[in-house]
Amino acid sequence: MTEPTEVQRGLEDVVALESRICFIDGKQGRLIYDGYDIRDLAARSTFEEVAYLLWYGQLPTRTQLDDLSARFGNLRTLPDEVVRAIDAFPAAANPMDVLRTTVSGLALFEPEETRPGTSSIGGAQRLTAVIPTILGQFHRRRAGLPPLVPRPELSSAAYLLYALLNREPSELESRATDVALILHADHELNASTFAARVTASTLSDLYSAITSAIGTLKGPLHGGANERVMELLEQIGTVDLVEEVVKGKLSRHERIMGFGHRVYKVEDPRATILREWSRKLGEAKGNLRYYDLLRKLEEVVHREKGLYPNVDLYSGSVYALLGIPRDLFTPIFAASRVAGWTAHVLEEYQDLRLIRPTAKYVGPTDLKYVPIAERGA
Ligand code: SDX
Repeated sequence: MTEPTEVQRGLEDVVALESRICFIDGKQGRLIYDGYDIRDLAARSTFEEVAYLLWYGQLPTRTQLDDLSARFGNLRTLPDEVVRAIDAFPAAANPMDVLRTTVSGLALFEPEETRPGTSSIGGAQRLTAVIPTILGQFHRRRAGLPPLVPRPELSSAAYLLYALLNREPSELESRATDVALILHADHELNASTFAARVTASTLSDLYSAITSAIGTLKGPLHGGANERVMELLEQIGTVDLVEEVVKGKLSRHERIMGFGHRVYKVEDPRATILREWSRKLGEAKGNLRYYDLLRKLEEVVHREKGLYPNVDLYSGSVYALLGIPRDLFTPIFAASRVAGWTAHVLEEYQDLRLIRPTAKYVGPTDLKYVPIAERGA
C-alpha cells in the first residue's frame, strides 16, 4: 500500500491505467485510435470500421467488415415490451434520460445469461446497433412521425438519420454523420468512459456500465456542451453581437461552451475536422449562419481567454444543418461513444483491477457520541 499523495482534484493528470485503445497528445493536438490518426480515419474510414478497430485493436478485412455491418443491421430491433415502454415515456422527457432508462431497462429483457455475451463483443455490438433505434422510436412518437421500421441494409450513419428524420439522407449527409460518429467514438479516459470502467471494474455487467456512462455524458461540462453551444448562438443572434455577449459572459466568469479541454492545450483535432464539415454542409444547404457565428466566436474567445475550440463547438451546427432537433445532439454523441465505452469495458474485464482511489480526510477523528436527549432542541 503506497502512502496517499497530494490531492489531485478531478484526477487531473493522474495515470489510472494502461490502455491500447486511444492516445491523445494534448500538446500537439493529436488523437489516435489503436495506432491510427483520427485525421486519416475521418478522411478514409467509416464508423463500422472504427467500431471494429476499437473492439479488436485492428482494422477489419472486407469479410470481417461485411459481417459486422450485417450484425449491426440484425441487432437494431427492440423487444416489443421495450417499444411499449418508450411509447409510454412523456413526450417532454429529456432524450438522454430516455436513453439511459431504456438501456438500463433493456437489460431486464436481455438477462445476462442470454445476452450475446456481456463480457464479449456481442453485447457491445448489440448496444451500438440498438441506440439509434431507441432514439428514433422516442423521437418519432413525440414528433408524430410514422413508426420506425427496421432498415438492416442502411449503414450506421444513414440508419441514424433515417431513424430520426424518417427520410433517406443524401450521400453528403450520410458522410457528414459518419465522420461525426468516427470523431466521437472514443477519447481515452474522459469522464463517461471512466465511469463505465469504474462500473466494470466491480465485475458489474456491460449494460450497467453503459448506463453509468450515459448518465455521465449528459452533463454540460462533458457531452451536453454541444446543445448549449447552439443555445448560445441563438442567444447571440448575429455576428456583430458576438463580442459583446462573450465579453459579458467572461466578465461574469461564465464558461463558454465548446471551448477549453482538460487534455488539449491546442485546438482539438476533432474541432478542426468538424469546422470543415460545418462549412461544407452550410454551403450545400445555403446556410452559413452557424458557421459565421462560430468563426467569430472562436476569434473572440481565443483573443479574450486564450482558449481553443473542442469537439463540441461545431458538432451542433452539423447536426442542426442535418435537421436534427437540438435535444438529440448529446444522444448522438452517445450513439457514437458507446463503441468506445464498450471497448474500454471489455478491456477492463480482460485486465481487471477494482478502481477505488482514496480521499484525503479533512474532518475530525475523535468526537464523543452525545445522546440525542442531550443535544438541545
Ligand atoms: C468533452 O475529457 C474528454 O476527453 C471530454 C471530451 C470527450 O471526447 O469525451 O473531449 C468531450 O467533454 C469536451 C468538453 C465539452 N465541455 C465544454 O465545452 C464546457 C466548457 N469547457 C469547460 O467547462 C472546461 O474547459 C472543461 C470542463 C472542458 C475543462 O475544464 P478544466 O480542465 O477543469 O479547466 P479549468 O476548469 O481548470 O479551467 C482552467 C481555466 C479557468 O480559468 P481561471 O478561473 O483559472 O481564470 O480556464 C478557464 C477557467 O475559468 N476556462 C474557461 C473555459 N474552460 C476553461 N473559461 C471560459 N469558458 C470555458 N469554456
